[in-house]
Amino acid sequence: MKKSPTYNNPKLYSFVMTILHPFGELKNLKKLIGKKKTVFEPACGFGRLKKFLYKNCTYRGIDLNQEFIKFGQHKNINIKLGNMFEQKNYVSSDIIILCDIIHHLSIKQGKELVSIATKFTKEKIIIIEPTFTSIAAGNNWFKKQIAKVFSRLDYDGINHITKWLLKKEYYNLFEEYKIENKFKKSTIKEKSNYFFVELIK
Ligand SMILES: C[S@@+](CC[C@H](N)C(=O)[O-])C[C@H]1O[C@@H](n2cnc3c(N)ncnc32)[C@H](O)[C@@H]1O
Repeated sequence: MKKSPTYNNPKLYSFVMTILHPFGELKNLKKLIGKKKTVFEPACGFGRLKKFLYKNCTYRGIDLNQEFIKFGQHKNINIKLGNMFEQKNYVSSDIIILCDIIHHLSIKQGKELVSIATKFTKEKIIIIEPTFTSIAAGNNWFKKQIAKVFSRLDYDGINHITKWLLKKEYYNLFEEYKIENKFKKSTIKEKSNYFFVELIK
């Protein structure tokens, strides 16, 4: 399968994100993260989340998409090429953000990612996942066709999306992340088109 054109072109990716999330829900991030925090984002894309943080936060990220990394670095965003499954690429930080990445992974890979992120976060992991994709979850013919289209449109050239989750499956998964990694507390909020999840140490 060919990589979706959005993953070859950071400007197109940015435009599509604005269309999918026209209400600027990510403004919510400032409140969740706070001021003067160190923030690390595995699978950071071109680092678009940086602009949603307070200016006095330190943002770093890694991604495997060369075009995205080059684009972000040109904008003076502190990101570099690196695989999020290799711990040597991580920087210990107050907050680790996993944005728009869980649905690209198998359940097993998602759990591995959260377990690695748990080691490197001092305060909490924030997971941001689209909620509208649950329309592609389910076993009837119609849902399966939507799932195929979504998986093609969102193929990042690295991970084939094989399963889309129902909202209740997401809730169960977030609870498993919390229990398996011994987080003290978690919160889950649905705002417009996103889940905002905090796994707090
Ligand atoms: C949907 S994009 C999200 C990007 C960014 N978090 C955002 O919200 O704009 C998913 C990103 O995950 C990256 N990715 C997938 N597998 C990866 C891996 N093993 N290591 C690092 N990045 C990865 C892809 O290159 C892609 O940029």
